Amino acid sequence: AVATGPYADRFGGQLVLVTGAASGIGRATAFAFAEAGARIVAVDRDAEGAARTADMSRLIGAPQAWAETVDVSDEQAMEKLAEKVAAEYGIVDVLVNNAGIGLSGSFFDTTSEDWKKVLDVNLWGVIHGCRIFGKQMADRGQGGHIVNTASAAAYQPSKALPAYSTTKAAVLMLSECLRAELAGQGIGVSAICPGFVNTNITSTARFAGVDETEEKRRQKKSARLYGLRNYPPEKVATAILRAVVKNQAVVPVTPEARGAHLMS
Ligand code: NAI
Repeated sequence: AVATGPYADRFGGQLVLVTGAASGIGRATAFAFAEAGARIVAVDRDAEGAARTADMSRLIGAPQAWAETVDVSDEQAMEKLAEKVAAEYGIVDVLVNNAGIGLSGSFFDTTSEDWKKVLDVNLWGVIHGCRIFGKQMADRGQGGHIVNTASAAAYQPSKALPAYSTTKAAVLMLSECLRAELAGQGIGVSAICPGFVNTNITSTARFAGVDETEEKRRQKKSARLYGLRNYPPEKVATAILRAVVKNQAVVPVTPEARGAHLMS
């Protein structure tokens, strides 16, 4: 396939690793980098979905694409992944820490197990990725870029999403701290903050407790305020490529995410 699109061949020769690549924003991001000529490592705990993303990435234009089945919250598994990738595919030029899970429910309906689950994936997964792959990038000394998928929830408080929002606020701050730390080494760090995007996470997120109707009401109100409801993951992917090319720090994506960012 011949690379097309706004970033055709912009990532030719680069190795891009995307976590949560089996679905939604991660899959769309793998495809966008594939279209831009990158070699792709599609990482997910969903083996079949990751394999499909890798296959399709090759069809779209990636010179090479591989699937790796890893749980990002498992530190040892992430270390093994980094060793394997470095030995077999090369040092990652662009890392997209995107794997995440949803969790809705009021603070008092959210159990310790719920907190642990969502912190393990959404925060620890990002910490492991940044530390392990970021270290390899820094040691190589040829720059690179890390993109972390945060959320508009990082700066938009909601009583329906306290645990999820807390993990995303932490990812946002982690990204900004790491950006300061790595700036001198030519490694950029971006935090992507989408509002509501049409993916599995928004249809299958677990609702702890009885807040579901309230969450639906909140989403409806947001829809009335900002209009657009069917924001496609492909547009988030384009924003991710732009964030890398322009080395943007914090990137609100979707109209309501931009609106909330202005007010925060
Ligand atoms: P999705 O559910 O379609 O995709 C998430 C992917 O992450 C899935 O393929 C899943 O298997 C994978 N995953 C989950 N836990 C994992 C783990 N422990 N290890 C490896 N892979 C794991 O959801 P979506 O929307 O594409 O989510 C991507 C990111 O975007 C998440 O971090 C999410 O919090 C964030 N986000 C999504 C928004 C939305 O409205 N869809 C809004 C703001 C942020």
